[in-house]
Amino acid sequence: MIRVKTEEEIELMREPNRIVGDCLKFVGERIKAGMTTKEVDTLVYEFIKASGAEPSCLGYCGYPASACVSVNEVVVHGIPDGRVIENGDIVSVDLCAYKNGFHGDGARTFCIGEVSEEKKKLVRVAEECFFKAIEGLRAGTPLYDIGYRVQQHAEGNGFSVIRAYTGHGIGREMHEDPSVLNYGKRGTGVRLPANAVLCIEPMIAAGGYRVRVARDGWTAITVDGKSAAHYENTLVIREDGVEILTL
Ligand code: MF3
Ligand code: CO
Repeated sequence: MIRVKTEEEIELMREPNRIVGDCLKFVGERIKAGMTTKEVDTLVYEFIKASGAEPSCLGYCGYPASACVSVNEVVVHGIPDGRVIENGDIVSVDLCAYKNGFHGDGARTFCIGEVSEEKKKLVRVAEECFFKAIEGLRAGTPLYDIGYRVQQHAEGNGFSVIRAYTGHGIGREMHEDPSVLNYGKRGTGVRLPANAVLCIEPMIAAGGYRVRVARDGWTAITVDGKSAAHYENTLVIREDGVEILTL
């Protein structure tokens, strides 16, 4: 069941989401070759704490960090550790903040130094998939139109869409209904109600879409070892369009 938010609740959701957007920007200005993924996580932890919020990921289902830092072939849920970020890597940073009783959630993929043309395109297309997905999106749009648009754009550019992970509703819980698939059939699914708050998060891969989870129980890696990119914002469905809370 989609938990539609009141205007008062949406007001309360602005702050955690603004913190997520600002934190992603903050990380983007600092991430560079030579840093470890753990150092990225520390930046995120300090920023969220200094903003008076809590890092929602820390301790979520036993997750041990404030951010997911996923390098190259890691699709999502990369646990920050001693891995050194190198020139030519693409690094996705996914984070959530909790404040005012609500969560915010967002992700970006950053290019580190000189990145191959293919990886650059992958990162660009992941972001474009998000913006394609929200074109014309408003109250009454069938849910799977989102996935249809993501899939069209990703596959049209020669990339594949990750199936094993999805976007989601968000609010007092980090994950609420509905699941927001990144593939699907146009014109199907529930018609989205006004004031639904969703995380739309295309995850696309340069090779095949199959993923395996590492022995740590979290780190999702492409089976073929090719790179993946991730881009996510939290937004409100409105009568006449969407309102993005993390930009
Ligand atoms: N931010 C992720 C999402 O989009 C959640 C990460 S799982 C966690 O759903 F364990 F790290 F919290
Ligand atoms: Co999310």
